[in-house]
Amino acid sequence: MQFEFPMSLETKHIRNCVMLKDRYEIPLLMPKNARVAEVGVLGGDFSEHIIQTTNPEQLYLLDTFCSGDWPSHKPKRFQPENHFDFIQKKFHSEIEKNQVHLMKGISWESLSKIEDHFFDWIYLDADHRYSGVKRDLAQAIRVVKPGGYIVMNDYIFYSHTEQIAYGVIHAVNEVCINEGFEIIYLALHPQMYCDVVMRRIQA
Ligand SMILES: C[S@@+](CC[C@H](N)C(=O)[O-])C[C@H]1O[C@@H](n2cnc3c(N)ncnc32)[C@H](O)[C@@H]1O
Repeated sequence: MQFEFPMSLETKHIRNCVMLKDRYEIPLLMPKNARVAEVGVLGGDFSEHIIQTTNPEQLYLLDTFCSGDWPSHKPKRFQPENHFDFIQKKFHSEIEKNQVHLMKGISWESLSKIEDHFFDWIYLDADHRYSGVKRDLAQAIRVVKPGGYIVMNDYIFYSHTEQIAYGVIHAVNEVCINEGFEIIYLALHPQMYCDVVMRRIQA
């Protein structure tokens, strides 16, 4: 399916959509002191932003925790073999006070262990291939509260930096069309690695 076009959205899927200057504005608009998950954590940079801006009651951080640091990050903060240790140390005090929980494993498998309607909002930024995003989104729909928010990173058709096709637009548009979701925020990125925030269309 790599270069098949995504399904087109209809007006009802974007009629409430507001454009944001970047993804860092998203947590400012999300519920505070909430139950949150970030799926795909890497160096925990966005996790830190979520903590600082929203003070979540619970923040679940899901990752395989066997990746190296951002290619552009110099010096490197961690290697694949100490990725988990790095995150554990970084969020040591939040883990101690039961605010942050680490879940190591394949994202959709970890999500399958969470009860229904658990999270107020969830940030997805792990596997960007269609098959992976589709699985993460299916779990996200289940674990987010009715009226909760699903934020999807990298709503882009082709990653020019990695020179690979992404399946994010395909999977997101399918959720909007088939599951009755709408996009309420589109957060810009200078290279158009945009984020979208989805919620179920209100009756
Ligand atoms: C782009 S990085 C996340 C960046 C982070 N959200 C931020 O904004 O700073 C993607 C992360 O997803 C993880 N990942 C990729 N596929 C995964 C999967 N199927 N299950 C769990 N983690 C995965 C990688 O290990 C990597 O740490």
